[in-house]
Amino acid sequence: VSRPSSTVAQAFCTFTGILPLVKATSVQLPIDIHLSLSQDSHGAVYTKPWVVELILDLASYTDDVDLGAMVCVEPAVGDGAFVVAMVRRLVQSCRRHGRDVRACQSAILGFDLDLSSVTTARESVSAVLVEFGVAIDDARTLAAGWIRVGNFLFEAPSLPSANFVIGNPPYIRLEEIGDEIMTAYRAMYRTMKGRADIYVAFFEAALRQLRPSGVCAYICADRWMLNQYGGELRSFVTSGYSVETVVDMHTANAFESDVSAYPAITVIRRVPQGSVVVARADAAAASNGAPALSAALLASRIQDLNGNAPAGLVTTRVESWFDGSAPWPCTSPERLQILRRLEDEFDPLESAETGTKVGIGVATGRDDVFITADPDLVEPDRLLPLALARDTLSGTLEWSGHYLVDPWNAHGVVDLANFPRLAAYYEAHREALMNRNVAKRRPQHWYRTIDRVTHALTQRTKLYFPDIKDRIHPVLDRGQTYPHHNLYFIQSDGWDLEVLGGLLLSDIGQFFVECYGVRMRGGWLRFQAQYLRRIRVPKPEDIAPEHARGLVEAFRRRDRHAASLIALELYRLDRLPTEEDERSAGDA
Ligand SMILES: C[S@@+](CC[C@H](N)C(=O)[O-])C[C@H]1O[C@@H](n2cnc3c(N)ncnc32)[C@H](O)[C@@H]1O
Repeated sequence: VSRPSSTVAQAFCTFTGILPLVKATSVQLPIDIHLSLSQDSHGAVYTKPWVVELILDLASYTDDVDLGAMVCVEPAVGDGAFVVAMVRRLVQSCRRHGRDVRACQSAILGFDLDLSSVTTARESVSAVLVEFGVAIDDARTLAAGWIRVGNFLFEAPSLPSANFVIGNPPYIRLEEIGDEIMTAYRAMYRTMKGRADIYVAFFEAALRQLRPSGVCAYICADRWMLNQYGGELRSFVTSGYSVETVVDMHTANAFESDVSAYPAITVIRRVPQGSVVVARADAAAASNGAPALSAALLASRIQDLNGNAPAGLVTTRVESWFDGSAPWPCTSPERLQILRRLEDEFDPLESAETGTKVGIGVATGRDDVFITADPDLVEPDRLLPLALARDTLSGTLEWSGHYLVDPWNAHGVVDLANFPRLAAYYEAHREALMNRNVAKRRPQHWYRTIDRVTHALTQRTKLYFPDIKDRIHPVLDRGQTYPHHNLYFIQSDGWDLEVLGGLLLSDIGQFFVECYGVRMRGGWLRFQAQYLRRIRVPKPEDIAPEHARGLVEAFRRRDRHAASLIALELYRLDRLPTEEDERSAGDA
């Protein structure tokens, strides 16, 4: 999973030694937990004004709304980029709705851990109020009430419910947060699973705080929409909220300082899910100004812009959203549009109807012990021909002669008393094998592999897919080998696997994996069972015999182009936008 560099991550947060001032109202924590947050305060990343205005528009934090009667939370104020703009809109709204802004003490609630940032933000807000004719003392009182030193994540559960939560939460690497504080965050925010970054908790805290119809609008790193640690948060969102707008801002220069994070604007509302505007803004977008950009994005909720989007903005609308914890491939509006159609019209590859299953090969925990090329090492029936990822490279399975030293039979782990040579071999490696977690958990089966072997799989015809390759690479095994852990496999009762192989070899197969998959550092695509399962395919019986023949031939010749032409017809597509197309559209 790509992660911003450590400089970037550091740049996203600013902590100082003021933490004794932090008071946890909801969760009483010892003060040293707060102190353990102390960090140096270099290089906080602040949001550019046009991005702030755009986000406020998208969240409908606008002066035609009676903002004085509402509650808006800014969870991580920094120097005040958002609160200053909020206060302008609040004052204008008060004028339109006949309110005295001095009576709007509860309209804004901002937090930051950093006292010097809070001081700066308060001063800026006071200056704006004075500009609008508020007396300086009143302005200071309001600013001090609106912007507080505090840890939003600890404060959030005891705050009043909010109509708006808007801002740019911090992005802090886990290593930079002490264990105690992480334990406290994890106890409070259930979506903070695995390697989840702190911004995940900022989302959960915000969403919990929303009143019905309330809205959370953040600019934030977008990795959680696709990656594994974002799964809990995606489930949380799809179970009770509506994703309204997602704007990819990767190349939009949204921040005052240069950062190489992958930011997106995400607008999520506490209403049932409706249609979603998905857009991408690039470096040219800023020149339109926020009003033109937000007008275009809001208009595309209702109608197609038909090529009339402002320069640097690509936008589309999809009518439904993903379910459960499924990844949200939002980085390309053009591709998402097609993906959603294909998802609606075709069935997932893994299905009971066609008896098609996706799986992964055997993990051993000690490949150096369990894998051998010596056909005389142990009893012959304890050696299982094993296909390795490298055996698939040419596109035809070329078994390299490796075996799994197999501890399994149909009933479970074999009794070593029946296999003296196998017993002697494992015994010679007892220490290494015992050191594995799986052996520690089940000491009586210390010689088992991590995964159980299902021998029937060996004889089945199946497709292999090596994990981590830049192209989807289906390779046929005619029932000769058992897959090693770096290979995924597909077995099927209903498919001719060469027809399916042709389909998956095509650009369509690649398209799905690129949409769902996360690119690793260096651009490698991760192939995971969860993505392969979600690839949509026509029903085998809907494929005309000449198309089926063409796919088989293309698969045998490894002819992606021929396979892709047939696949486009089957999926009723003229063409597929590729990642390269989008990169060059972005460059233009
Ligand atoms: C990315 S900056 C955003 C600042 C401002 N909202 C903007 O967009 O310009 C994040 C801010 O979060 C603050 N911060 C970090 N952890 C926090 C926490 N747990 N509660 C409140 N603020 C926090 C940092 O001090 C920093 O000022």
